[in-house]
Amino acid sequence: MKSHNLITMDDVSVDDIDTILETAHSFKEVNERAIKKLPTLRGFTVINVFLEPSTRTRTSFEIAGKRLGADVINFSASSSATEKGESLADTAATLDAMACDIAIVRSKFSGAPAILARRMNAHIINGGDGMHQHPTQTLLDLFTLKEHLGKIKGKRVGIVGDISHSRVAGSLAPGLKMMGAEPIFIAPPTFLPAVPEVLGAEVSYSLDEVINDLDVVYLLRIQGERADGTAVPSMREYSALYGMNRARMDRLPEHAIVMHPGPMNRGIEISADVADDPRSVVLDQVSAGVAIRMAIMYLMMGGDQNGAAA
Ligand code: CP
Repeated sequence: MKSHNLITMDDVSVDDIDTILETAHSFKEVNERAIKKLPTLRGFTVINVFLEPSTRTRTSFEIAGKRLGADVINFSASSSATEKGESLADTAATLDAMACDIAIVRSKFSGAPAILARRMNAHIINGGDGMHQHPTQTLLDLFTLKEHLGKIKGKRVGIVGDISHSRVAGSLAPGLKMMGAEPIFIAPPTFLPAVPEVLGAEVSYSLDEVINDLDVVYLLRIQGERADGTAVPSMREYSALYGMNRARMDRLPEHAIVMHPGPMNRGIEISADVADDPRSVVLDQVSAGVAIRMAIMYLMMGGDQNGAAA
């Protein structure tokens, strides 16, 4: 891989992405076997540094590491010395002194994984930092999109909702552009970054105006923990204008899919029946998360694409 760490989508080349997706394909097959364990990372130590809540990312990294035979340690803010005022830099130096090989970092602070990367020899993987990026989410999204639509290039992907507070959008838009897809931000102006074009996406203020022409509707949760609640006048109005419901599902092209990084807020950005519709691939994204994270750690530690599932 191009870089020692995976902190932003700039750390991977198009060739790296192709290799990660191909390797994840082999690991997906491993994950469908009765016995899912491989010895490829035996002797390596993976530490999950999760300083903000997570269900999917933390669990899938833990499963991925264990399926590859690594020793996996979970580190959370509430059970660590960060609660006693230890700085992030000192925490990083402490973890590095224990000779771990890969550290996955989730933090509410944009830039936290980059701070750890300066103090640690371990490979650092960004598990989502503040409003910045979530690159492993983007890679699993690219994998899921390709699995369902056959290719990524040329696909029109509507990214709908709270773009300005979303680290998922922060890495998804550049990731789609790298792979030749066409991301479109669909949101009220108050949910858009000041200069949305920086992320390489078109902009629309109306889901109804563009829905007939989308291959993917990618829904985002309103980031209540990062938004101050004044961006939209009411949740009911937001849901009426930007929520994915049955009427909009009927206008979506037949082949198109609905994606969501989770956690979903049913009844706001997605209706319950759309969430459970066969064209909603949310749980496929979760499954892909394990295979993609296996692939990233395996390749980071020098694994070869052809030997992935051997
Ligand atoms: N998609 C995602 O990052 O989910 P978690 O917050 O549960 O990890």
